[in-house]
Amino acid sequence: MAREFTRVGVVGLGTMGAGIVEVFARNGVDVVAVEVSDAALERGRANLTGSTDRAVARGKLAEADRDALLGRVTFAVGLDALHSVDLVIEAVPERLDIKQRLFADLDRVCKPEAILATNTSSLSVTEIAVATTRPDQVIGMHFFNPAPVMKLVEVVRTVVTSADVVADVEALCVRLGKVDVTITDRAGFIANALLFGYLNHAIGMFEARYATREDIDAAMKLGCGLPMGPLALLDLIGLDTAYEILDTMYRRGGRDRRHSPVPLLRQMVTAGLLGRKSGRGFYTYERAGSGKLVPDELTPTAPTSTDGARAVTTVGVVGSGTLAAGLVETFTAAGYQVVPVDPAGELPRLADVDLVVEATADDLDGTKALLAGLGEVCKPGVVLATTTSALPVIDLAMASGRPADVVGLHFANPATPLVEIVRTIRTSAEATATARAVVAALGRTGVVCADRAGFIVNALLFPYLNDAVRMLEADYSTTDDIDNAMKLGCGYPTGPFELLDTVGLDVALAVQRALYRELREPGLAPAPLLEQLVTADRPFRR
Ligand SMILES: NC(=O)c1ccc[n+]([C@@H]2O[C@H](COP(=O)([O-])OP(=O)(O)OC[C@H]3O[C@@H](n4cnc5c(N)ncnc54)[C@H](O)[C@@H]3O)[C@@H](O)[C@H]2O)c1
Repeated sequence: MAREFTRVGVVGLGTMGAGIVEVFARNGVDVVAVEVSDAALERGRANLTGSTDRAVARGKLAEADRDALLGRVTFAVGLDALHSVDLVIEAVPERLDIKQRLFADLDRVCKPEAILATNTSSLSVTEIAVATTRPDQVIGMHFFNPAPVMKLVEVVRTVVTSADVVADVEALCVRLGKVDVTITDRAGFIANALLFGYLNHAIGMFEARYATREDIDAAMKLGCGLPMGPLALLDLIGLDTAYEILDTMYRRGGRDRRHSPVPLLRQMVTAGLLGRKSGRGFYTYERAGSGKLVPDELTPTAPTSTDGARAVTTVGVVGSGTLAAGLVETFTAAGYQVVPVDPAGELPRLADVDLVVEATADDLDGTKALLAGLGEVCKPGVVLATTTSALPVIDLAMASGRPADVVGLHFANPATPLVEIVRTIRTSAEATATARAVVAALGRTGVVCADRAGFIVNALLFPYLNDAVRMLEADYSTTDDIDNAMKLGCGYPTGPFELLDTVGLDVALAVQRALYRELREPGLAPAPLLEQLVTADRPFRR
């Protein structure tokens, strides 16, 4: 007979635990909410009431329902209060020693038939299970942040979890209004295995001053339609939790260097910069626990970013393809005087323009020759912009003979408002400021980054897509479940396989090859399945 789950326990009421309490209590389940100390219990209670009060204020929860929800929750310090619950889910820190000790204690305190669940993101559920005398009743229930909002629960069964326990927990997820994907015990499961390499890479970009935190986050929000940028998401997750997850994934997941925590992350944790929960992480918040940003010393002030910009009234657009035609329209609509030019022979018409935007094919020799020609015919002080998505901007800059005036202007996708402004190690501050001012005048959002393969968006996006292909290749999950996990667990607008089919597998393979060529990182090598599908001219979903 299926289990009832009328009363559950939640251990640890931090970022995730308080949200998990809310999920159960909202769905009519009585909850015993447990913490280590009175102070932690009060913080946990405040997390819960803060979240439910916000739901009431936003009209998502009636006051009477909030009161009923809170009425179903009993708070306690210590595990003794859990002796009669049907299921316990823990959300204590992501450390194997802490969790093993806790499970051994829960095993002693809880009734024999109770199920013990862990919300771990990356640790081995099997290793946690064997700390008890009932490993067949131990399971992973991985909720996503914020738990009351995100629909996904990854249910993790180990080699010893009983089939009836899996079935009953799956049924419970449905009762909680969640969508479950059931998977086996592998570091990072589906969503975090795909997410954390990307997050760590974004920290690396910030640490290397490749782009500002605002620009990295804006690039991924505007360029990919993600609900949050990676650094803001890390602040929401908690940097201490993120560190532990990366560290575990590195050790359990084949020592892929992309999961080795970027040194800055460790330093921030040591310095107490834990993200929203401590009031400061990559960004600064109004107070601990708040999601409201306040300006700090890294917050850009708008006027300085276009200081020194050169005046631009006439724009030459070089090229005859779709992008060039679109740019002629865009610049004209923004009030610029536009000189469209066919690269074969019309360059002298650009002698008096203030800005040249080349939008020709990504062919290194051809584009270098074009830039050399522009260097000869254009007046001094002109800004020369290339829209390349694949060529190193510095090669083109050197070919022009005036590298200080050359920038990249990568119009990521005509439908998005994002433009990546690429400065090389030779680009002058004035040329960058001019590009910023022009992009703003077009009504687009410009983000400035250094001259590296994939700029910001492609460098962060495509390795994640490639990892999804590897996960499929390893037979860990299906295209549907992987797509759903990213949409329902992380709020992505499309899943990786839907996106790969839209972008085109040949394009994805070309970008991935370029990233691999530049960085020589083994984890960036294109997935063999991706290469094979390109050869066979087949998409993932037919
Ligand atoms: N933060 C996220 O976005 C996220 C998402 C999904 C899963 N998780 C997982 O959830 C778990 C908790 O992460 P978090 O980010 O909520 O951590 P957190 O640091 O915000 O909260 C942990 C809480 O556990 C309490 N605690 C510590 N030891 C305890 C014990 N022995 N008994 C009772 N309470 C104890 C702490 O006082 C703290 O309130 C981790 O396993 C993490 O991997 C986190």
